Amino acid sequence: MRRKIVAGNWKMNLDVNEAETLFKGICSIASAGNKYQKTLVFPPNIYIHSLLKENNGAIEIGAQNFHFETKGAFTGEVSARQLKALGCSWVLVGHSERRVLFNEGAAILSKKMDAALESNLQIIYCCGESLREREEGNHFDKVRDQIAILKSLTHESMQNISIAYEPIWAIGTGRTASPAQAAEMHDFIRAELEAIFGYTIAESTSLLYGGSCSEENAKELFSCKNIDGGLIGGASLKVDSFGAIISAIE
Ligand code: 13P
Repeated sequence: MRRKIVAGNWKMNLDVNEAETLFKGICSIASAGNKYQKTLVFPPNIYIHSLLKENNGAIEIGAQNFHFETKGAFTGEVSARQLKALGCSWVLVGHSERRVLFNEGAAILSKKMDAALESNLQIIYCCGESLREREEGNHFDKVRDQIAILKSLTHESMQNISIAYEPIWAIGTGRTASPAQAAEMHDFIRAELEAIFGYTIAESTSLLYGGSCSEENAKELFSCKNIDGGLIGGASLKVDSFGAIISAIE
């Protein structure tokens, strides 16, 4: 049975007091869940240590970014190994903001993926097309290319990978993909995974939707058969809206 996941990506938001208050609020409403249901938050890296100490066990904490090298002269960077030692259990790889704003292409993303797996971190691998690619009808090709990076992974490694489909045109725009558009792409991703890894891996990989997911649309999105949860940006910054989205998965 694949896991249901609601993950909050806080991006570069919140000061330290706001982060701690939000985290406490989420801890108080997130039920401990179970093996098959998870609530995750991805705070800015500087807050991870203090939030881990406040964690009541209901939430797992991940890092939005890290460097693929394990250690050394990489001023300003943090490694997957360091994050794991801190108590972090997840990382994001391939978010469109990293791809576009920080020029992270396939070669870098592959190295990040290997580094995360080597440190036993779980990965949410993000994919999704631009507005132009969708308008030109190239959205499936784009996502297929992005998924192809996973081809080098073993079946065992795939057990640590979840995938978030985040169409760039829906991120932070208030313009969410319709349930039909999201479901169509999730069906496609599941079929791609099956073609690469076979039925068992494809069926057990959690596929999350991200892009203006909110308390208004979460339930409808999550009711689609191949949507196993969400990667939430803006709406994860408030306890009420994030709580409502967590409830929508149950
Ligand atoms: P929004 O929910 O703010 O559109 O952001 C989605 C996202 O990028 C999550 O990683």
